[in-house]
Amino acid sequence: MSSPSQRALLIVILAAGKGTRMKSSLPKVLHKLAGLSLVGHVMAAARSAGATRLAVVVGPDMPQLRAEVTRLSPQAEIFEQAHQLGTADALRAAQAALADHTGDVLVLFGDTPLIEPATLLAMRASLDAGAHVTVLGFRAADPTGYGRLILDADGGLSAIREHKEASAAELALTFCNAGVMGFRGEHLLDMLARIGNANAKGEYYLTDAVEIARARGLATGTVVGAEAEVLGVNARDQLAIAEGIVQARLRARAMRDGATLIDPQTVYFCHDTRIGRDVVIEPGVVFGPGVSVEDNAEIKAYSHIEGARIGKGVRVGPFARLRPGADLADNVHIGNFVEVKNVRLDAGAKANHLAYLGDGHVGADANIGAGTIFCNYDGFTKHRTEVGAGAFIGSNAALVAPVRIGAGAYVGSGSVITRDVAADALAIERSRQEERPGWAAKFRELMRRRRKVG
Ligand code: UD1
Ligand code: MG
Repeated sequence: MSSPSQRALLIVILAAGKGTRMKSSLPKVLHKLAGLSLVGHVMAAARSAGATRLAVVVGPDMPQLRAEVTRLSPQAEIFEQAHQLGTADALRAAQAALADHTGDVLVLFGDTPLIEPATLLAMRASLDAGAHVTVLGFRAADPTGYGRLILDADGGLSAIREHKEASAAELALTFCNAGVMGFRGEHLLDMLARIGNANAKGEYYLTDAVEIARARGLATGTVVGAEAEVLGVNARDQLAIAEGIVQARLRARAMRDGATLIDPQTVYFCHDTRIGRDVVIEPGVVFGPGVSVEDNAEIKAYSHIEGARIGKGVRVGPFARLRPGADLADNVHIGNFVEVKNVRLDAGAKANHLAYLGDGHVGADANIGAGTIFCNYDGFTKHRTEVGAGAFIGSNAALVAPVRIGAGAYVGSGSVITRDVAADALAIERSRQEERPGWAAKFRELMRRRRKVG
């Protein structure tokens, strides 16, 4: 018998359901967990399990779903199921892929995003051990609604009984069908063709494949998974529960990889967040898509970060906002109430308080004073601000882009800078201070007298 690594693996994801209980204009499987669509999570698990080919079954009029599948996996084959006549009918929609495939087939549901690659590998191993049909089962705390796995005296899987067709004795069973099924490809099309719809729902049940296989003397198998891993997302409350599980996994991963999370439950990761070693993340930090944090960086409390690269030893926050294109080289400091968008800061540059840095470049060791604004937008176009290495921007300066501050230059506090500043120059743009000796005392005296007269 060939080992799984030698047989090709086709994974078919059934995702044609509209998900009416979500009360949403989006197809159900496009809702997100940790910044990635439900179907994207299933596709990622499929990839990790070594799928050589991926097919996704979608419903009619789902252009966004098609786009998402293609974005994540340009080679994925997309099939349309015209009417939702059941899970076997959905798999039939992918008939063309099944027909020219020799190897294993795993069928997954697009709304079951927590499935882990290791479980899919166990499904492959079950096929490898001789099963022609294998089913992922789990012990349900409440089995209502699930198909029950019917085992024979030897513990072999003889049938799956859908809840609506189950007898009282069968309803008492808690070993349930998680919805992931595996097939040795050679008999699958033939079994699919034999599945009818004479049942309580009038649907073509893929689960009937088990009884059909047994009737033909083919071996069946089961793999046991954890209930949390097979949670189906049908409504927003389940979406929130699934988010909690995904976040717990991502926090555990960050800590396993060597990051310190002071209060893990309050940190929210994105599916693609990359965190190095000895990174310290304080409470209340939120990561959006596309963030990498290198070793020894420190992210202080209540910072919001997306699309950013954070170099070694960088300090961010508390209360900082890094937006897409924030690129912080080693040992940069970004302090409280500082927003950075599409700006590269070279090593050692600092913006410690209350600033907006948008569209530009800050040279090494430059110091951006409190209240500095890069005025990057004129209502029509975005312009760039260049601050040279070692420059010092005084507090409350407005740098009106496009503008360049030369290396080592000083900008006086409160200046509105509209023209380029040469290297090592001082630019100051504010009126000269006037002082009137004794004025305040005379003013107070005048006011006191007026009050007495009134
Ligand atoms: C199914 C299983 C049941 C199992 C349960 C686990 C069958 C017959 N029953 O029941 O044994 O315990 O999942 O959650 O398979 N879909 C399509 N087209 C269709 C019908 C469904 O693409 O015509 C997709 C749905 O989008 C969904 C998945 O298949 O992702 C499952 O369909 P659903 O109707 O939710 O099946 P269940 O009744 O939950
Ligand atoms: Mg379901």
